[in-house]
Parts: sequence; C-alpha cells; structure tokens
Amino acid sequence: MEIKAQAGKEIGAAVEGFDYATASPADFEKLKETVYSKKIAVLKNQDLTPQQFLELGKLLGRPETYYEPMYKHPEVEEIFVSSNVPKDGKQIGVPKTGKFWHADYQFMPDPFGLTLIYPQVIPEKNRGTYFIDMGKAYERLPEELKKELAGTYCRHSVRKYFKIRPHDVYRPISEIIDEVETKTPAVVKPTTFTHPMTGETVLYISEGFTVGIEDEDGKPLERDLLHELFEATGQLDDTFAHSNIHLQSFEKGDLLVWDNRSLIHRARHTTTPEPTVSFRLTVHDERKLYDEAAA
Ligand SMILES: [Fe+2]
Repeated sequence: MEIKAQAGKEIGAAVEGFDYATASPADFEKLKETVYSKKIAVLKNQDLTPQQFLELGKLLGRPETYYEPMYKHPEVEEIFVSSNVPKDGKQIGVPKTGKFWHADYQFMPDPFGLTLIYPQVIPEKNRGTYFIDMGKAYERLPEELKKELAGTYCRHSVRKYFKIRPHDVYRPISEIIDEVETKTPAVVKPTTFTHPMTGETVLYISEGFTVGIEDEDGKPLERDLLHELFEATGQLDDTFAHSNIHLQSFEKGDLLVWDNRSLIHRARHTTTPEPTVSFRLTVHDERKLYDEAAA
C-alpha cells in the first residue's frame, strides 16, 4: 500500500495497492489516519461487488443504513444508491442527490464519521464532487466572526431537501411536512466542535441542512450570522471559484473515503444530465461526531 498526497492540492491523498481482503489492521489504521489528516483518501483500482464494498465498509466501522428505504441497493441495504440510470426499466435508488452543501446525516442526532463513495457509472464531463474543509474554513474566519459564534448553537433539518417519494404523489404537502418534522425533528448542535480525531475546531454548518442559529438558551440570534458564515466559507459562491472549494475528481475504479466531520460536500451541477451511478456507504468509527463533554 502506498499513500501519495494529491499534488498541488490542500486536501486529498491517493492510496495505491490497497486490497481490503489482504490489508493488515495496521494498513487500516494508516488509511484512517490519512482520511482524518488529508480529509479524502482515494483508493485506486478497486473492483468490488456490492457485497465486497460492504465488507470493506465494515472493516472501517459500523455501517449506518439510510433511514429512507427508497435509496437502498436492492441486494445490499446498507448501500445508498444515487442513480439516474434505470435498470431493466426500473428506477434503482434516487437520481440527482446532494446538489447542495451538506455533511451527510447532519440533520440526525448521531451523524457518522466516515463516508465512502464508490462511483459506478462516471459522467464524461462534469465529473467530481465539490468539498469544503470546515476546519480550515473556520481557521480562516475573521476573528470578530469567530468571537461572535462562540457559545452559539445551530439547528439542522432535512426539511429543505427532503425528497418526495413515489408514494407521496397526491398527498397534501402539509401532511408530508408534518411527517418530516415528526420523523426527523431538527437537531441542535454546537456551532463548532473539536474534532475528536485531529483536535481541530470544525465549523459544523451547511447551507443545505443548517436552518437556524441560537444562543445557549435556544433564543435565535438577532443578526443573520448564518448567512454571513455561509458567505465567508464559500457556500454561496455559485461559480465555485472560492479558495475554500476543492473539486475532487475521480475515475473508474476509484473509491473515496472522506472525513464526514470536517468536510461538507456538494454534487456537481450538470446542465446536460449524463448517466451517473454511485454507491455510498456510511460508517461510524470509534468515536461520536464530537465529545459531548469537550464541545
Ligand atoms: Fe452527501
């Protein structure tokens, strides 16, 4: 196994010669260390069945199966499928997922530390995923903003991006909204936390899922600090030219493992939709998102 930092990039490392079936516990430790320190590890030349992909995921942690069944892989339910390619005339998984800034499961009480993406059908143009390292983004904030957000909390919800399911057709929208709020009520987390693996401070907000900012008593802040933070971290830049934004490209055989604590990501816009299929696994590592006592 050989690990090479991505030349000229602040984040990302390529991992050559990794075979989960023969890798030693020390190799897995090294891989995890790379993910936490370089944020994205790209395992090269992977050729895995869905079942083998799950086995690899289990060696990195405890898989979390997505709560909405329509995303599930037909044979391996832990795999979340993003696809616009019907199989035998049937939709598998969900098309056009994640075209907004977010961390996976940010709207849930117990988000996992690691996300694995294994692209299956890769578009010719517009390939890749955008990322922002919210640890680095926090470091770069003006001191006044850092002071202002200290001791605040943020509210996260899936409500803006919950995807209407086939069986929701003909249901009143208010009923669907009520169901979303009951099943996945907004969660409150500190605006920043200490990354339990690296010690860095992470600004845990995203334009897609973060819907409010409040003081320690739960009183919404008077100023629109969230908008300012989205702006400062690059999340409102629709040209994707902001210096915080990293475009991670991939090719067939690549399997990406990333740090879901400090990275937010966003699927790339495509004006002309091309066939795209991607398998995702999400796993809890040894620690919670953050240490409650230390946050
Ligand atoms: Fe995602």
